[in-house]
Amino acid sequence: MLILAFESSCDETAAAVVRDGREVLSDAILSQADMHAIYGGVVPEIASRKHVEAIAALADQALSDAGVTRSDIDAVAVTYGPGLIGALLVGVSFAKSVAYALQKPLIPVHHLRGHIAANYIAFPELEPPFLALCISGGNSMLVDVRGYTDMTIVGATRDDAAGECFDKVARVLGLPYPGGLPLQQLAEGGDDHAYSLPRSHMADRDLDMSFSGLKTAVVNLVHRAEQKGEPLDRSGLAASVQAAISEELIPRTILAAERYGHRTVVAAGGVAANRRVRSDLERACQERGLRLFLPPLRLCGDNGAMIGAQGYYEWMAQRRGDMTLNAYANLPI
Ligand code: KG4
Repeated sequence: MLILAFESSCDETAAAVVRDGREVLSDAILSQADMHAIYGGVVPEIASRKHVEAIAALADQALSDAGVTRSDIDAVAVTYGPGLIGALLVGVSFAKSVAYALQKPLIPVHHLRGHIAANYIAFPELEPPFLALCISGGNSMLVDVRGYTDMTIVGATRDDAAGECFDKVARVLGLPYPGGLPLQQLAEGGDDHAYSLPRSHMADRDLDMSFSGLKTAVVNLVHRAEQKGEPLDRSGLAASVQAAISEELIPRTILAAERYGHRTVVAAGGVAANRRVRSDLERACQERGLRLFLPPLRLCGDNGAMIGAQGYYEWMAQRRGDMTLNAYANLPI
């Protein structure tokens, strides 16, 4: 089963050809990050326009890289939410037109299900059930994955996503967008106890997280230092923030895995590329005897292959879209 998959939920336009959910024949990606970096964050209107410019050529590239023709494709998969609505609409409209022109089925795919499915590409032995930690620029959540298309969110951020926190803190430190990697690099060699930063605690829902208090604390700390002309230990601050974000994520992940009876933990999304988060997760899972799957860095960020992978399992579960398929900025998993 060959799926041509499209992803356009944020600032990457991507098209891929995936066989039977696990074998990636091609994965064409065009990142707009440089464009948005000028503004310090994603500008939705620009993102939509850039997707329009790129998507047709990427579709052709995905087919030619895979060494297949349009008539070899069995179905078309597309991210239909959550994400930036204008950006999503470009992918959905294009995928609908491709499915219609080729007279092939259309498969709607949830973006975060796609992030989780990136692991199926990297790890042929991985199968549900497992507990997934999904951490990206727009979402942070713990997902009880009982089957390929049977999953429930058991904990989530109450405000900002982990990636958003990385990006905003990076911005106030004058680092380029997207700020996750530059902040990680700045943190290298820094003292992660240099600054005392707030941790959240949700008395009513102990698997929920919060990042806005941390973000605001850092922004205020930096502005205060600037106003008073006090020196800032930038590397120590970056290390302290990274430690705080990791502490927000990892203990809750272990708690969720144990509460929902999982022996396997899977990480997904752009922030899963973070070195500190990865090593803390490795240590915590090892201590508890949990099996851990960490996606390779190239599969952490947005890509089309993960949509093709999940698209296959949506197909197997009889999920189909039609020409009325819409895009959704918010979408339950
Ligand atoms: O999954 P992704 O590519 O897009 C969304 O679906 O949102 O995630 C992008 C996010 C950005 O916030 C970026 O700063 C963050 O992932 N990120 C990182 C690292 N690499 C990317 N955050 C921390 N450490 C990294 N090494």
